[in-house]
Amino acid sequence: MAGGDLKLARPYATLAGTLDKALLEGLTKMGFEYMTPVQQKVLTELPTLSSDCLVQAKTGTGKTAAFLLPTIQNLLQGNIPPRGKVGILVLCPTRELALQIAKECDQITACLPRKMECHTAFGGTARASNLKKFLGGSPTILVATPGRLDDILGEKEVRDRFDSIKTVVLDEADRMLDQGFAPQINSILKRIPPKSDGWQGMCFSATLPDRVNDVVKCVLFPGYTSLSTIDPNEAPTVANVPQFSITVPSIKQTFAALYVLIQSEHKQNPKDFKAVVFGTTANGVGLLYDLFQNLLPQFKTFELHSRLSQTSRTKTTNQFKDAASGILFASDVVGRGMDFPNVGLVIQLGLPSSTEQYIHRVGRTARAGKDGRAVMVLFENEAFFVNVNKTLPIKPYPAEIISDLTQYNPTIEQGFMGVDEEAKAKAYQAFLGYNKTYLKKLRLDAKGLVQLANQYAEAMGCPEPPLIEKRTVGKMGLKGVPGLRIGSRREEAS
Ligand code: CDP
Ligand code: MG
Repeated sequence: MAGGDLKLARPYATLAGTLDKALLEGLTKMGFEYMTPVQQKVLTELPTLSSDCLVQAKTGTGKTAAFLLPTIQNLLQGNIPPRGKVGILVLCPTRELALQIAKECDQITACLPRKMECHTAFGGTARASNLKKFLGGSPTILVATPGRLDDILGEKEVRDRFDSIKTVVLDEADRMLDQGFAPQINSILKRIPPKSDGWQGMCFSATLPDRVNDVVKCVLFPGYTSLSTIDPNEAPTVANVPQFSITVPSIKQTFAALYVLIQSEHKQNPKDFKAVVFGTTANGVGLLYDLFQNLLPQFKTFELHSRLSQTSRTKTTNQFKDAASGILFASDVVGRGMDFPNVGLVIQLGLPSSTEQYIHRVGRTARAGKDGRAVMVLFENEAFFVNVNKTLPIKPYPAEIISDLTQYNPTIEQGFMGVDEEAKAKAYQAFLGYNKTYLKKLRLDAKGLVQLANQYAEAMGCPEPPLIEKRTVGKMGLKGVPGLRIGSRREEAS
């Protein structure tokens, strides 16, 4: 493993007294010889293996094992719950991440003389069969997303399984405690034994903004241990990732900029070129995938966002994990936590929803001590992002690739001819919905937003702005704004 941020610490073998022999064997089998700094910190600096803690370490530095090892070891020290009961509950934001954590857990416990089952619970899968497996098995460890867990905790039989709980881990803790998930997390915490029963709380993330301190109380008791491997004065992103931005004058040129950028980056690093391109919305990402599949047939392309079935999301996740090269067009469903080995480049098109989201997306590259690069493609109104985030070391992209993007217009137009009209209409609507949230920052009013969206439609080769249902316009708060075409696409199509 290369240097970078992952200055490897002591070998695991030095923990022979602390960690069970079978766990050490599991780690050896996984190819883990040295602890990462966060793993060493948690395993050697926590007052006890069952102490409450808030842990911050950069993306890709092994936080998963840093919470799995102490919690599993704690169970092995005489705390294994009775058969059928959950001992460790790990909560995380997405299905893909839940599967990834469960897989790592199975590898860590693989050499235990008695199998320790790790179950998952997340939406998008058959509730009944999943529940049957959970109730019929011995889910000593459960990795869950909040929605589905909250749902199944409605059943008394399920609630009973938590009465011996020893640890609750929030991975991506700042995300788990933000407003989006808070209602579900609170509901879950009300239906498992109260914190005063003595279970351990653990919160992990690469980003822990100050506002998190007010809400961690629900899982951590005062006096909890704070551990961090990040110097408060250093940039919050991984140090060995040069970061760049490209600003183009119009929304139309973002497509050409992406087209040129991918090829220029590939030319610089042709060997095992593996990249993730983030877009802002699921339908926007679907559109990028459709377009770039046409424009860049020389690359293997993948798409991953919430508008796909869970089966295809899981399949693509595994394919891209295993792929030596290729380009993944993704939304924020894989913006946090996902470990796609050897991604060398992350591109972000459009405005990230927050500074934290930017940091996590960049964190899909340069994992486990490897190198990586990150580039943002913004159009003029979005360029403020770079200025308001002075702690991020983002520099102008070095190569002069935007001087004459118009020469690529025919290529982009050609590419869009092969894209389904419905995909364009969905992307148009998603564009309006997403950017509506950022009007002030984008220095736009509603009318300006619609004009911008209509330029986006024109760039996609739509002869007119796609139709939007009256109801949707109302929901977006754009009623009466000039430039929108109101009507039903379904009627038009038939
Ligand atoms: O959660 P975080 O982003 O900090 O990283 P992770 O997903 O837990 O781990 C990143 C990568 O480091 C994974 O591919 C691990 O298999 C690998 N790794 C590790 O976690 N621990 C080691 N001692 C060595 C490698
Ligand atoms: Mg992680």
